[in-house]
Amino acid sequence: GKGAAMVTAVAYRLTDQARQIQETLAEFRLSKGQLLEVKKRMRMEIERGLKKETHKEATVKMLPTFVRSTPDGTENGDFLALDLGGTNFRVLLVKIRSGKKRTVEMHNKIYAIPIEVMQGTGEELFDHIVHCISDFLDYMGMKSARLPLGFTFSFPCHQTSLDAGILVTWTKGFRATDCEGEDVVELLREAIKRKEEFELDVVAIVNDTVGTMMTCAYEEPTCEVGLIAGTGSNACYMEELKNIEIVGGTEGRMCVNMEWGAFGDNGCLDDIRTKYDQAVDENSLNEGKQRYEKMCSGMYLGEIVRQILIDLTKRGFLFRGQISETLKTRGIFETKFLSQIESDRLALLQVRAILQQLGLDSTCDDSIIVKEVCGTVSRRAAQICGAGMAAVVDKIRENRGLDHLDITVGVDGTLYKLHPHFSRIFHQTVKELAPKCDVNFLLSEDGSGKGAALITAVGCRQRELDAQ
Ligand code: GLC
Repeated sequence: GKGAAMVTAVAYRLTDQARQIQETLAEFRLSKGQLLEVKKRMRMEIERGLKKETHKEATVKMLPTFVRSTPDGTENGDFLALDLGGTNFRVLLVKIRSGKKRTVEMHNKIYAIPIEVMQGTGEELFDHIVHCISDFLDYMGMKSARLPLGFTFSFPCHQTSLDAGILVTWTKGFRATDCEGEDVVELLREAIKRKEEFELDVVAIVNDTVGTMMTCAYEEPTCEVGLIAGTGSNACYMEELKNIEIVGGTEGRMCVNMEWGAFGDNGCLDDIRTKYDQAVDENSLNEGKQRYEKMCSGMYLGEIVRQILIDLTKRGFLFRGQISETLKTRGIFETKFLSQIESDRLALLQVRAILQQLGLDSTCDDSIIVKEVCGTVSRRAAQICGAGMAAVVDKIRENRGLDHLDITVGVDGTLYKLHPHFSRIFHQTVKELAPKCDVNFLLSEDGSGKGAALITAVGCRQRELDAQ
């Protein structure tokens, strides 16, 4: 009768809705063939970044770092380190002791960088940094020491030496004026001079990937790759000097900061980017830039999820079709929320509680959909990140003319460390896409701070040798 017809209609609407949601998510589910294609294109962009003729227009910049070896255990001394560009800004004192029993002792303080400083003038930003250093030196009672300093500055920099780095472009949430095109080491030195309170010897500027690699290499000499899967996404590795054409040289290796976040900025990933990726890009501070990073790093995953949820809500599949103020707010889904929502230990009721905390009223069905959206977006992130890493380790294997490579990758970043599935899917993908490599992943303990200090130690030693 009528009742039965109505039940059938409702059931049909539900299955049709489920089908449409699955169709929406299908675009995020990449096949092995597509992932192999991502790996292949990454490899192509690596070559373009390394070659002299193509370096200028290359999107994956393959920046030389002037770090020519991993630590050997003889590093020694007290160092100051700064860490700018990750989740927190920190100042650290790192005491490295060589000898029979090697030790590294660290003291650090976290400082907030208010958004108006991140997005104000360069002078304000660097004055703020120096103000924090001053506070830290007071706190440690070390204002008169003139310590050597390593500056972990996690943005793309054109380096011409260990202690010179011209900012190519801001990434992530930063956009302080008058910094792009400037040597950030000079900007720091000038700010220290303006303050007239203490002296420091700025020895090295360090990308966080490089700091991570060096920290892990200090414990494990087979570590010759660094990866950050956090707010941003990037990798570095030891490349043959002869392949880094803009530096030149015949023997030995140098670490290159790939800046792989910019992969795809020439359109080479357009076939796998969805309209949601495009919306995230359009909504960002740096439209058109860092397209790969916007598909696989912590700062943007939540934004992709939000764009999908907005669309599903508009189509009446979620939240009773009501787009709340919360859903309109940029940046609400931080990595920690995604990590919680996707945790297997969490009952759906708890997922609803999390959404409630964010100000989203959900039904049980809503929470199932939200969880699936999050899972799909973070799975793709881990997979394309894995495809990039597969390209890197295979490149190293070929560099060395090996059929089989054993290598260690040092890893850091909130997404890798906090997310319940990212690291597993990432490892699995690397294994599948680079079957001739045995890749061992090592979590870095405080890579940015310790690594900057280790590089500074190597830099100081080199300077002494050069002076002789
Ligand atoms: C961004 C930066 C890069 C950094 C990465 C991880 O991609 O451009 O330099 O390594 O974030 O923090």
